[in-house]
Amino acid sequence: MLTLHTPVSPSAPSSETPATASSSGSAAPATTGREWWRHSVIYQVYPRSFASSGGPLGDLRGITERLPHLRDLGVDALWLSPFYVSPQKDGGYDVSDYRDVDPRFGTLADAEQMISRAHELGLRVIVDLVPNHTSDEHEWFRAALAAGPGSPERERYWFRDSEEVPNNWRSIFGGSAWTRVCDRPDAPGSPWEDDQQWYLNLFDSSQPDLNWNNPEVHQEFVSILRFWLDRGVDGFRVDVAHGLVKDPDLPDWGGEVHMVDGVEESDPADGESPAPPRAPMFDQDGVHEIYREWHEVLAQYEGDRALVAEAWVTPESQLAKYVRPDEMHQAFNFAFLASEWDAAQLREVIATSYAANDAVEAPTTWVMSNHDVIRHASRLGMDFTGKQQNGIGAEDPQPDNVLGLRRAKAATLLTLGLAGSVYLYQGEELGLPEHSTLPDALREDPAFFRTGGEEKGRDGCRVPLPWEASSPGFGFSPDGETWLPQPASWARLAVDAQTGEDDSTLEFYREAIRLRREWDLGIAELAWDADFDGRDVVAFVSSAPAEAAGNPAGADADSPAPQRPTVRVITTFGEAVHVPEGWQVAISSSPVTEGVIGTDTTAWLTRS
Ligand code: GLC
Repeated sequence: MLTLHTPVSPSAPSSETPATASSSGSAAPATTGREWWRHSVIYQVYPRSFASSGGPLGDLRGITERLPHLRDLGVDALWLSPFYVSPQKDGGYDVSDYRDVDPRFGTLADAEQMISRAHELGLRVIVDLVPNHTSDEHEWFRAALAAGPGSPERERYWFRDSEEVPNNWRSIFGGSAWTRVCDRPDAPGSPWEDDQQWYLNLFDSSQPDLNWNNPEVHQEFVSILRFWLDRGVDGFRVDVAHGLVKDPDLPDWGGEVHMVDGVEESDPADGESPAPPRAPMFDQDGVHEIYREWHEVLAQYEGDRALVAEAWVTPESQLAKYVRPDEMHQAFNFAFLASEWDAAQLREVIATSYAANDAVEAPTTWVMSNHDVIRHASRLGMDFTGKQQNGIGAEDPQPDNVLGLRRAKAATLLTLGLAGSVYLYQGEELGLPEHSTLPDALREDPAFFRTGGEEKGRDGCRVPLPWEASSPGFGFSPDGETWLPQPASWARLAVDAQTGEDDSTLEFYREAIRLRREWDLGIAELAWDADFDGRDVVAFVSSAPAEAAGNPAGADADSPAPQRPTVRVITTFGEAVHVPEGWQVAISSSPVTEGVIGTDTTAWLTRS
């Protein structure tokens, strides 16, 4: 059988790390090969929409109260999108104070309480770090506006003198990436009323990009890391990790950037060099120095703290640079998320992901949904199943949510069968579809406004969760208020409606996560399943790594652990397949009857 992935074996600190695996040439840190971030299931909480202790917006107390849901789901950790002080122009990814909690979400004491309650329940906590830009309400940016051109305060951002817009860069949310100070809505009557300088904002004009050539910016973020590490967080998800360093010449560039699936280089004009220039604002080599610096900071703390990169970087070998042994620990695998529902594409992305990450001894992550993309229970029910348009509007072609959910469950079971770390997005365990008919008047995503409504934006995947079928607002908040409306059909998807129902999506997730943990599938040796060569399936075999056979991660070495079974994972697409002789179904995403695994189904098989 063709090996697909071999897990990392324990190592002592070594200075003999191969040059390809070390970014600095310094000694690679030791690994047990079993650190939590190598194999965990991590659940993304979007605080605005998880649970509220009062009012239409979710908050930290609401999260703390509902943490037992995550324990019961069986995940290892949660990652929270930002809950810091923020004007909420981009759902909190516009931070005005990195060391405090926005009053809408609670207090710093609520954050500490949430972290300690999570730890009591055996859940690790990852928080979001937004280092590419601040809010325009951050004290640094206010000081920069007030201090005027040429001031050291402006050196923390990218201010430029220029008669015309400084270059042709586009904001990822639409429009130019430059804003002239005097064009700001707060300019009239202010000291900067006539200020002609421009500043760079790769996202909204309320999110000015920081200048990482300035040592003060480095010091500030090391201090922010320490602030939250001291409060016990287990890691950071690093927002736009590929964006911090810009080509200082700020050259024009003709490519396009899309959220999540990344950069599309422009075709070279006739007669020009065939290689179009790399994006000057993304994936510059200098970012790696920052992550080596942060790795050192985390390493000074007990307990395997981790960094995960949100970096829209392709190909996977380029992305793997972010997770070399002395940099970050994980990077989101967006190539997997962006893949179409197609066996050949998925096999290819699985193989290239393992090849790239295994070469640097990093875990591969697997993710299907997050707060920036159409939920996979709807995406996989559309004509085009890859990562595509930004949001769905009432007048757009609507997804087939029955087909979407069938495939989504198959995709999830495939994902949970893979070795490495898995990210789940809140509500996918309930089978929530995208809200695809939200009225435009309720939309909040800056992408909707900056594209003049051409992009519907991300609000449809951010609708408050349904907890109780018969409570107002489905129990999201005590008074039933929700900041976005929930479709009435979500009553049957509420947590209480699905709990204990054998055929519910929620019980399916619980069982799959339980088996993954029991069998230690996160740390496994994988090989392609040769019996299915040439078929329209993704099929692989998961077995215990040679040195760990019979001793799952975390098991006490003195007490013999039960032998974990060999598991065959099979996902079907266009054709049904038969369960092979001598094997039985342990779990499947849709019922398997008379030994036939129907189309769009994943099954885990063990020996009968
Ligand atoms: C990341 C976040 C996204 C946000 C953007 C700007 O991509 O995931 O939600 O809008 O960064 O901070």
